[in-house]
Amino acid sequence: MKIDGTHYRSIWRESDGTVKIIDQRWLPHELRIVALTNRRDFASAIRDMWVRGAPLIGATAAYGVAVQMAHDASDAALAETWEVLHATRPTAINLRWALDEMTRVLKPLPPSERAAAAFRRAAEICDEDVEINRRIGLNGLELIRAISERKGGKRVNVLTHCNAGWLATVDWGTATSPIYHALEAGIDVHVFVDETRPRNQGAQLTAWEMNHHGVSHDLIVDNAGGHLMQHGEIDLCIVGTDRTTAQGDVCNKIGTYLKALAAKDNGVPFYVALPSPTIDWTVRDGVKEIPIEERDGGEVTHVQGRMPSGVVGLVQISPDGTPARNPAFDVTPARLVTGLITERGVAEASPEGLARLFPDRATVA
Ligand code: MRU
Repeated sequence: MKIDGTHYRSIWRESDGTVKIIDQRWLPHELRIVALTNRRDFASAIRDMWVRGAPLIGATAAYGVAVQMAHDASDAALAETWEVLHATRPTAINLRWALDEMTRVLKPLPPSERAAAAFRRAAEICDEDVEINRRIGLNGLELIRAISERKGGKRVNVLTHCNAGWLATVDWGTATSPIYHALEAGIDVHVFVDETRPRNQGAQLTAWEMNHHGVSHDLIVDNAGGHLMQHGEIDLCIVGTDRTTAQGDVCNKIGTYLKALAAKDNGVPFYVALPSPTIDWTVRDGVKEIPIEERDGGEVTHVQGRMPSGVVGLVQISPDGTPARNPAFDVTPARLVTGLITERGVAEASPEGLARLFPDRATVA
């Protein structure tokens, strides 16, 4: 997407071969771009959330394998890189998907051919992600258009959680792609952006995206969504996902489940936008089977922001030594999901619904 007239992706390869990312830890205050030059950089970038969002985590891992292949393309290095990068974050399935895909392509090749093939495949994974998200946007656009028509062209109010925007993918975003497409189609659309404690991806990243792309929006605290739904202020919810199971359970940023419950109670459609690599066909019951990342309690007891001095830093908001729990994701059971917006169309959140759209991939129906 364009920032001040320049088109950015969230990760790209320069003509000199360097892989660069937007270091998202500094947004919205600073647009910092950094080069990732070795496997350690890639592992830190994923683990410490310089990049984040399931599709971007996958794309970054793919380039991490490629950079490692340029240093050492042996079988041992390939296997070790899978392990090192896979250990960075446990929940987003795109990470494992990308690492498996790179291994599938590289393993049969002689080491001398692996680096070039790895960079090629990593670039393709990025381009595929962009195209998938563009299609998700077109499919989701029709849902927004239908609501707009039903309301006689009056403003369509969308609630979203976390950042499932272009910063979380390579471009377009998943949940935001229908919104960007609706804007382009001239539909009056407004976004309520959950701040998304503790890391505030909504306040820091989604709000930054909405601002830059001229999308009408309001930032709200995480607990405001239910109230707004009760008062008819939300027409639909669209969120992203880090892993969706074969039966349509959706794992996403902590707090998503509560939004889905509130949506159900108020008859508000609750959609999840996802690229197909986010489907984990090996898992059915998301609550029981998906590993949920537990992050440092410091993310709960401290909040990052820009001080009046202009310095970006952490502020402590709880008493010294307060213990904190920090589960980073939760699972929304399929029964609370109105539909899954994929690159192939909108699926019912059920084994049959997913298998109908992906008959070539569904293994557990
Ligand atoms: O912890 P994060 O910021 O990586 O979590 C991101 C999310 O939960 C997104 O909603 C999800 O990855 C979908 S991104 C298109």
